[in-house]
Amino acid sequence: MATSLSSSAQIHAQYGGVVPEVAAREHAMAILPVVESVLHQANLELGDVDGIAVTQGPGLLGALLVGVTFAKTLAAALKIPIVGVHHLEAHLYANALEEPLHFPALGLLVSGGHTSLLLWHDYLDWDVLGETRDDAAGEAFDKGARILGAGYPGGPEIERLARRAKERSLCLPVADLADTLDFSFSGVKTATKSLWEAHGDKPEEIAYALQQAVVKALMRNLEKALDRYQIGHIYVAGGVSANRALRDAVRHLGENRNISIHIPRIEYCTDNAAMVAALGYRRMQAGKILDIFEGALATLPLV
Ligand code: KG4
Ligand code: ZN
Repeated sequence: MATSLSSSAQIHAQYGGVVPEVAAREHAMAILPVVESVLHQANLELGDVDGIAVTQGPGLLGALLVGVTFAKTLAAALKIPIVGVHHLEAHLYANALEEPLHFPALGLLVSGGHTSLLLWHDYLDWDVLGETRDDAAGEAFDKGARILGAGYPGGPEIERLARRAKERSLCLPVADLADTLDFSFSGVKTATKSLWEAHGDKPEEIAYALQQAVVKALMRNLEKALDRYQIGHIYVAGGVSANRALRDAVRHLGENRNISIHIPRIEYCTDNAAMVAALGYRRMQAGKILDIFEGALATLPLV
């Protein structure tokens, strides 16, 4: 498999987060070189391509429009089919890059904009069991890092700080939405702010407490779901699944409950095109071709 990735994270870091206009411009500049580079790596030409998969949503409309318009134009010129994929569903398909998927399974999707727990019946067939009611897990890390004056994206910065924590005695509360499988991370952000005001000399300890709180909330709902459904496999995906503490906690759960745990290798946890192609391939085989009148969608529910 050949992949190519262009990241504008360093540019966004200068602003402390993603500026939509900047993201769209960077996409417009990067898209052609990325396509050329991947074709070069694979030793292929445009004429060898059988189909195109593109992220249709959800996300920042400007960046999505660049991708969808580029893909549609290329597909029309080459007279090949195009499939639109859901960005979050694609994250879970990063797992299909390593091996065939096993069903039924639980899917835990943890990214910068979303946190969802899915009951996965088969390829292209799942039910949403729970979602975040406010901030996403990655957002909790990003906002926490901003509070601590650490860089962007916040997740890796919090993980780095947390690794240096020695006392590990500070604690942050995280919401438990009782008998639902939903999540809520806005409270932990407020609590992080208060803890920082009280312990401004302990960024490592606070980062550790934040990481523990987010991981705990995710694990709690995975455990609740395992109590309710007969499941042999758990798939974790999305940028936050790069977090070592989360990976270890999920693997530990798998050992305790005799469940197979699947987490993509780090480069396929965060945004990448290989996962889009993996899902696009399935959708294309199932005949789910994008209509020329369909476009980019800033909001696209996972239903
Ligand atoms: O999936 P992704 O690359 O982009 C979205 O679709 O949002 O996820 C980005 C999110 C950011 O919030 C980032 O802080 C978080 O994933 N992230 C991490 C780590 N690496 C990235 N969170 C915790 N620990 C990490 N090592
Ligand atoms: Zn993503």
